[in-house]
Amino acid sequence: MSYRTEMARPGVAAVEALFEPCRIGQVAIGNRFVRAGTSEGMVDRRNLASGDLALLLGELARLGVGLIITGHMFVDRRGQYDDDQTAIDTDEAIGPLEAVAAAVHRHGGKIFAQLSHAGSQSVAAGSRPIAPSGVPNVMTGREVPAATSGEIEAAVEAFGAAARRAVAAGFDGVHLHGANGYLLSQFCSPLTNRRDDGWGGSPEGRDRFAIEVTRRVRAELPPTHALTVKLGFIDIMEGGLGLNESIRRAKLLDAAGADAFEVSCNLMTSYADNIVPYVAVNTRRALADLLPQRLLRAPAAEAYYRWIARALRPAVQVPLVLGGGIRSVSTMADIVTSGDADFVALARPFIREPGLVRRIEDGLPGTVGCTSCNICIMHSGHHPLQCWRIPRSQLMRHAWFRATGGFRRGIGSGQKPRMVRKAQPTRRQ
Ligand SMILES: Cc1cc2nc3c(=O)[nH]c(=O)nc-3n(C[C@H](O)[C@H](O)[C@H](O)COP(=O)(O)O)c2cc1C
Ligand code: SF4
Repeated sequence: MSYRTEMARPGVAAVEALFEPCRIGQVAIGNRFVRAGTSEGMVDRRNLASGDLALLLGELARLGVGLIITGHMFVDRRGQYDDDQTAIDTDEAIGPLEAVAAAVHRHGGKIFAQLSHAGSQSVAAGSRPIAPSGVPNVMTGREVPAATSGEIEAAVEAFGAAARRAVAAGFDGVHLHGANGYLLSQFCSPLTNRRDDGWGGSPEGRDRFAIEVTRRVRAELPPTHALTVKLGFIDIMEGGLGLNESIRRAKLLDAAGADAFEVSCNLMTSYADNIVPYVAVNTRRALADLLPQRLLRAPAAEAYYRWIARALRPAVQVPLVLGGGIRSVSTMADIVTSGDADFVALARPFIREPGLVRRIEDGLPGTVGCTSCNICIMHSGHHPLQCWRIPRSQLMRHAWFRATGGFRRGIGSGQKPRMVRKAQPTRRQ
């Protein structure tokens, strides 16, 4: 029975709001569901998108996801994050990405290319990253010399050239990765940007890289194409970037051509700061998903960036995308009907249940299947994206890989970064 006819179910009208079309810039999106950027690790030996990536994202579109954001793609070899990240740094990448965009369009979906430069957070073998200042990266321990102004201008140019390739490949828009500790985040944070030239030295100086990248990318996009930004609003570290500075920055990016914002955190000390484990996992879910360690522990809170969206809402004119631990259908509907955000973005739930939108349309009550165990992020850089809890035999495969030292071979986010400097989270500043 569809939710449209299931009169006994509370909140039917609210759930219906998730299926209302909405625009980002001039791009019409069929509903309010966004697949958040999720690195797929589906590339060939030259990091060109593989046929598996087209299959995965095409399937999400077929199953009703309105807008798909790709995993972060590196705009320059110097900005490559890990060994199996998708490339968009040369024109050679256009053909394989064309197949990805076409697979999504075949089913009426929309797709934005997430563009990124990892800066000193790079763990790619042999990479030669840049960073605003010679400060050890809190996640990787890497300390790279402060970039020259020529190197910074080259990075801005690389974002522009990558945007041109995204348009040539048929994407509907570009999503800048300005969060989670990568190069744009590093320029925005006072902890990692200690420059005293025009690229730092004050909140206004720290705006400059993000503004120049936004303008340069906007210049490559026809008006029919959207430019969205995943912006990190707070450093989850003492003395770091605070909300007021970031809201001011978002207004400037709005004026520079951003068509929507996705809210997120900026610097973090661990991936779990942003990809929070065990969201909404109560005793019943813990039992059902073989999580004995959670039986006596309270669930982590849902929609953990909602307070940021609420603070940002009155400051900008453009639509907001809210992600981060959104797990129950009632929370999804409430986010949209309350006006806190226009779109709900989900990453882990779509890994486990690519058909989630159809299930919600058919009246799914309660929460999604994913229990945020984070095994999928442990395998990032080691295996292509997948859920490791279903079928159950996958859990055995994961246990075997771990027990035989798989995570110690090669580099990737499954390996614990060395030299992590512990800091106290300061979520509300
Ligand atoms: C396996 C995995 C890979 C991810 N890769 C990216 C990425 O490429 N770009 C990005 O912006 N965020 C990435 N994220 C973070 C998600 O976009 C999202 O912000 C986070 O997982 C919280 O949302 P969720 O609770 O719906 O999973 C990744 C998350 C996971 C679990
Ligand atoms: S492995 Fe599966 S259940 Fe665990 S977080 Fe990833 S998608 Fe969710």
